[in-house]
Amino acid sequence: AKRVGFVGWRGMVGSVLMQRMQEESDFNGSFDAVFFSTSQAGQKGPDLGFDTGILQDAYDTKSLSSCDIIVTCQGGDYTKKVHPILRKEGWKGYWIDAASTLRMEKDSIIVLDPINMDVIKKGLSSGIKDYIGGNCTVSLMLMGIGGLFREDLVEWLTSMTYQAASGAGAKNMRELVSQMNHIGKKAEDLLADPAGSILELDRCVAKTIRSQDFPTDNFGAPLAGSLIPWIDRAVEDGQTREEWKGYAETNKILGRKDSPIPVDGICVRIGAMRSHSQALTIKLKKSISIKEAEDIIASSSGWTKLVANNKEDTLKELSPAAVSGTLTVATGRIRHLKMGKDYLTLFTVGDQLLWGAAEPVRRMLNIVIE
Ligand code: HSE
Repeated sequence: AKRVGFVGWRGMVGSVLMQRMQEESDFNGSFDAVFFSTSQAGQKGPDLGFDTGILQDAYDTKSLSSCDIIVTCQGGDYTKKVHPILRKEGWKGYWIDAASTLRMEKDSIIVLDPINMDVIKKGLSSGIKDYIGGNCTVSLMLMGIGGLFREDLVEWLTSMTYQAASGAGAKNMRELVSQMNHIGKKAEDLLADPAGSILELDRCVAKTIRSQDFPTDNFGAPLAGSLIPWIDRAVEDGQTREEWKGYAETNKILGRKDSPIPVDGICVRIGAMRSHSQALTIKLKKSISIKEAEDIIASSSGWTKLVANNKEDTLKELSPAAVSGTLTVATGRIRHLKMGKDYLTLFTVGDQLLWGAAEPVRRMLNIVIE
């Protein structure tokens, strides 16, 4: 049996990965699992309902290189530190990683198998060993509308995002709830009086979120009761790195290095917990009817769910509240824009920790194991 090393299984993405692997009975004896830790080597492995052994040292490259496959959710700094050493020492195993570090390397594939199984297969047969999960926004966009790319209908696309706190990390999710709690507490008395002045309530909330003791250490600004139109660091031409990834990663996932499709937009953090949403404007290469668009979009993946463009279905099914914790990527509000029948707009939402992070990595492991 192949030996599979897991690094970073305790963090947020790693925990979701472990949970999904248990749900799908991936630990079924078809490989030997070895668990590594950057800080607790020698202690007992995780409680996953089978003997997970003793934790190995995640910086011990001898021990790591005894694995045929390494799956890591430990983050980019770990990848930066350990991956080059392993490769330099001649390790030829498969490296499956959720972090962005290696995504744009020449010798890596960004994995999203419902969308780019052809690219993955080509990579495997040409001997590529590094398989990296994509940026959550990009992966969710492709899971939501991939059919339009498959039919080569997209001339260009802009994505305006509504990204959840989870994309920034576990501490940020806590901070969002703590901000909400803060607002709720300060406003409690005013809220209790239904006939109370709405402007007084609004003043109270505004004062709370601007106050010195409002918890903003992680986001650097209020998110609850507000939003943050900046994600990650600046790159060139006024873009943020999150926005830059839209073009770079979409085209790499689709294997379109030589004929890239323009993808750009503005990435915004909003007060959702773990599901990213995005509003897309799509310039089509030709006019198509809404029925055609819906059929193609519905066929994007086995997890894409078409939501009818009416209020009732939209409120019920097209939101972070509706899809969080599920593998469903919902796409709705599909209609032509006033600019013409070759302009489509729509809204799509999916769980940032599932298809946005852990699921493509989990599935890539299964692809390599088979
Ligand atoms: N960079 C994303 C975000 C998450 O901040 O929402 C990881 O892809």
